[in-house]
Amino acid sequence: MAGITLVGAQWGDEGKGKITDLIAYDMDYVVRFQGGNNAGHTVIHGDRVLKLHLIPSGIMYPHITPVIGNGCVIDPKVLLEEMDKLEADGLSTHRLLISCNAHVIMPYHRDLDGASERRLGSQEIGTTRRGIGPAYMDKASRMGIRIQDLTDEHIFRKKLEAALLEKNDILEKVYALPTYTVEQIAEEYLAYAERIKPHIEDTSLVINKALDGDQWVLFEGAQGTLLDLDHGTYPFVTSSSPTAGGACTGAGVGPKRIDRVLGIAKAYITRVGSGPFPTELSDETGELLTQVGGEYGTTTGRRRRCGWYDAVIVRYAVRVNGLTDLVITKLDVLSAVDTIKVCVAYEYEGHRYNELPAHQTAFHHAKPIYEELPGWKGEDITECRTFEELPKNARDYITYIEDLADVPVSIIAVGPSREQTIMRRWEARA
Ligand code: GDP
Ligand code: IMO
Ligand code: MG
Repeated sequence: MAGITLVGAQWGDEGKGKITDLIAYDMDYVVRFQGGNNAGHTVIHGDRVLKLHLIPSGIMYPHITPVIGNGCVIDPKVLLEEMDKLEADGLSTHRLLISCNAHVIMPYHRDLDGASERRLGSQEIGTTRRGIGPAYMDKASRMGIRIQDLTDEHIFRKKLEAALLEKNDILEKVYALPTYTVEQIAEEYLAYAERIKPHIEDTSLVINKALDGDQWVLFEGAQGTLLDLDHGTYPFVTSSSPTAGGACTGAGVGPKRIDRVLGIAKAYITRVGSGPFPTELSDETGELLTQVGGEYGTTTGRRRRCGWYDAVIVRYAVRVNGLTDLVITKLDVLSAVDTIKVCVAYEYEGHRYNELPAHQTAFHHAKPIYEELPGWKGEDITECRTFEELPKNARDYITYIEDLADVPVSIIAVGPSREQTIMRRWEARA
């Protein structure tokens, strides 16, 4: 049995897509367990660049069964467009399995996401406006429409009618937006259903059987630890559970099925959207990281906020996810800077915080306490394939991060493509 969970250890965009694609070679299944098309995972191999939003990042390998689990929210239009694009690129999607219990993003979810953000004004969360929050709200309030509802026209129309009774009121009376008729939505969504039907499965059963049969399953997280609804920087978070526990509820497997939990972290840190960010750099170093790292959102194209590596956050990610390994990506980007800073603790009102402050006020005002390390400016590390080939200062940086996190750095990425990687502690499947 080999169940491996891969999660973001920061605020998302850590390079989960690249690392999933890299290790997916050894897998039989790659499963998305939460989130929806708020995610943007980049996979690069040779000339091929895939920007995936819903389809698991193992799709490049024909032997893999990609699965969208019950914990996800699915915009069927986006899903079908993504499938069509992959097929046009010569990548088959016929093996894709979709959980019958995943929830469906409806047009009114997208409208309400945008409307509530506009109403918040300067207090906005900075969501991707893809309808993610409103879809999970309906799931929690038991008003959601599930993928399996699409397969029964009678049930679908009844649930849609019930939902519209409330949604139309909110759209019209609260936000002065246009309303929907059952007919309008039913026609569109029942057409999507015809194409989705062959992929619908009891995916929890499929995954558990695979694990029983000693097959390898990778649970691919979206977003990141600090965007987790429970453990993140609430309310500046997403509406699902991107931490490792989410793989169990979002795929329907028990915690004892998971053998290894990989946390992906950049060699610095970024955030897209609003919310606190202690190590944020608003100076020319921040600008340099943005430009050299190409830090523009995969989903919305928004500029990502950049800052120094925050070891307090990663230690927190080790704790709440039970990480067994760290993967450090984008180490090559740090070749652009002179001296590197690492945040080892925070200061607030005269107190030193070695752990992430539990109270939001302390975190919002936390001043980073930095240690400085010498860099390896100007040295191109993108061709390094072993740890020993890295410049001494880069090796020392990794060892320093490892000591602070107290888990091994098992994989190091030194460029965006699959081969630009150092496998330090990753044994290929026998
Ligand atoms: P994800 O959401 O965690 O999958 O990450 P994204 O794909 O949104 O953002 C990560 C970006 O960094 C993508 O453009 C990747 O191609 C790129 N990337 C990943 N690893 C590396 C690396 O080691 N070096 C560089 N320069 N780019 C990387
Ligand atoms: P991947 O999987 C980075 C952020 C949004 C916003 C907050 C809530 O590519 O790492 P939402 O639309 O989810 O309600 O927005 O979460 N966010 C992400 N930031 N990477 C992502 O996904 C994100 N998905 C959502 O910017 O701040
Ligand atoms: Mg991304």
